[in-house]
Amino acid sequence: MGSEGIRRVESLARSGIESIPKEYVRAKEEVGNIGNVFEEENKEGWEQVPTIDLSEIDSSDEVVRKKCREKLKKAAEEWGVMHLVNHGIPSEVIQRLKKAGEEFFSQPVEEKEKYANDQESGEIQGYGSKLANNSSGQLEWEDYFFHLVFPEEKRDLSIWPKEPPYYTEVTSEYAKKLRGLASKILEILSLELGLEGGRLEKEVGGLEELLLQLKINYYPICPQPELALGVEAHTDVSSLTFLIHNMVPGLQLFYQGKWVTAKCVPDSILMHIGDTIEILSNGKYKSILHRGLVNKEKVRISWAVFCEPPKEKIVLQPLPELVTETQPTLFPPRTFAQHIHHKIFGKTQEALPK
Ligand SMILES: [Fe+2]
Repeated sequence: MGSEGIRRVESLARSGIESIPKEYVRAKEEVGNIGNVFEEENKEGWEQVPTIDLSEIDSSDEVVRKKCREKLKKAAEEWGVMHLVNHGIPSEVIQRLKKAGEEFFSQPVEEKEKYANDQESGEIQGYGSKLANNSSGQLEWEDYFFHLVFPEEKRDLSIWPKEPPYYTEVTSEYAKKLRGLASKILEILSLELGLEGGRLEKEVGGLEELLLQLKINYYPICPQPELALGVEAHTDVSSLTFLIHNMVPGLQLFYQGKWVTAKCVPDSILMHIGDTIEILSNGKYKSILHRGLVNKEKVRISWAVFCEPPKEKIVLQPLPELVTETQPTLFPPRTFAQHIHHKIFGKTQEALPK
């Protein structure tokens, strides 16, 4: 059917409604405890998402280097999510990337519709909104722009935003730098499992097969944020996910039985361990449940890059070195496509990372 008739959340938000349509209203059990996200962000007194300073990751001092790597390992084991600071990606690149995305989304909806994807025919790249995909017809309070950014030869530049004109250049630059960071992190995660440095990188497809997919999430102001979700609770299927945002809070992590709101840490990149690494590590590293809140004051925009193994080529299962009598395998062998299918079983919509 193409994109006609799909209601963009931005249009809905701009229409001046005071109450949200029922498709966006979540079940009480799902959102019963949602508060104001700005107050939630400032709550002290419970554990916070760990911050890992990567400046010492390559220190020539072995003790310093080891300490830094162990911190990252601990964060991956206990939380599966962390703020990375001193990550080596120039802040100028990140600022320009954000500006490009903000400029694209600041255009009228009609302009953005020119890039509309067509999920029903499998064209998932482009401008989109979640389709009602099951009997409940439940929707999320967001629009997005989704496209592959790495490897470069697999990109389809013809569907990338042409406005602003520097979008392609800065997004390519960010993707290239992020690919380097992903290798670095995979190396540390491998070493800390007692494996060779390049092992996880190889297991998820290496330079040629690991796909980096960018999703710019646009969460309009919501008149009833206590009833809606920008993104429903899920774990990422990726190997790693890297996330930056416009310093408006919204991300919540389900940690030790309660929802913890991630603070906005300047110049950081938030990184998730995804299901793929959880599986390969036989559950040693965690893929944490998380969701996105919306608010009635500020538009939130986030830029998520999902680093995904190829859909069919690799069978994901715990690495044999990590399976022992005392630590039996926790996951059945599955391709990435099978894993996604298993997770969305019962839903009809083409799987799109969140
Ligand atoms: Fe996610």
